[in-house]
Amino acid sequence: MRIMITGNMGYVGPGVVQHLKASFLSSKIVGVDSGIFGHCLTADYHPERRIDSQVYLDVRDIDEEMLEGIDAIVHLAAVSNDPMGLRYEAVTEEVNQNATIRLAEMAARRGVKHFVFASSCSVYGFANGSARSEEDAVNPLTAYARSKVGAEIGLKRVAGNSDIVVTALRFATACGFSSRTRLDLVLNDFVASALATRHIAVLSDGTPWRPLIHVSDMARAIEWAIIRPALSDDRFLAINVGRDDWNYQVAELAEAVSSLIPGNIRQNQQQRPA
Ligand SMILES: NC(=O)c1ccc[n+]([C@@H]2O[C@H](COP(=O)([O-])OP(=O)(O)OC[C@H]3O[C@@H](n4cnc5c(N)ncnc54)[C@H](O)[C@@H]3O)[C@@H](O)[C@H]2O)c1
Repeated sequence: MRIMITGNMGYVGPGVVQHLKASFLSSKIVGVDSGIFGHCLTADYHPERRIDSQVYLDVRDIDEEMLEGIDAIVHLAAVSNDPMGLRYEAVTEEVNQNATIRLAEMAARRGVKHFVFASSCSVYGFANGSARSEEDAVNPLTAYARSKVGAEIGLKRVAGNSDIVVTALRFATACGFSSRTRLDLVLNDFVASALATRHIAVLSDGTPWRPLIHVSDMARAIEWAIIRPALSDDRFLAINVGRDDWNYQVAELAEAVSSLIPGNIRQNQQQRPA
């Protein structure tokens, strides 16, 4: 199997490459990434040594010929958080939404069988009360979340007009170690701050809920999506990916980290970006 992974040089990508290489032993993996965070290593080795070829390219510039012979695309490349989306709204829409749909359209024309899209639980917006299911309406509140919803709408259309099986994995907020660990994500931020400064800054009243997922579980979900059969005629599936019992309030996370790495928790009323 030949797999293209876009955005493989970020936080989630290295674990996905490692997992897919172990799961599909004869697979060939090509990475496509502009390399924005290439130098941000949190391990003493380069994770790209695990893949068969690395293309340094903006996903907006992928040529259709590059998809010849590819069986599955795992599309991770994105402007990947709310603060960047707020500052670069047009680019967020171009990369996360327009380039995603264009890539899926090209993939469908070239006979790629599976397209796996890294969507986000942020499509549900601010949730009061019970956890959101796929049956609930989306309510994107940020440019980042709107771009994920827009991409899903376009991907559903592509799947409806072709034979490609498309899976939009609505991931919870990631946590855990990667060879390019992101420290802007809530639990990683708390652990890193506690280790480095003995202080944890909670930029809200601590009540917001955060569904979490370990990066290695994201890789397992991607493996499933790469080979899942189409369900009836509907080749598009948007599915939440997380765990019911990994849904925490921010204050609980701060307390948990502080019980393991003693220090101070600073709390203020300012709303923390997602
Ligand atoms: N990390 C999370 O908590 C989380 C949660 C839900 C969904 N997701 C989604 O999963 C995917 C991966 O997340 P991540 O945490 O690894 O993000 P990341 O920001 O660490 O990695 C994104 C990668 O995409 C690349 N990239 C960005 N724009 C590009 C472009 N125009 N062309 C080519 N490459 C480009 C970057 O260089 C980077 O290597 C993203 O789509 C993100 O929206 C992540």
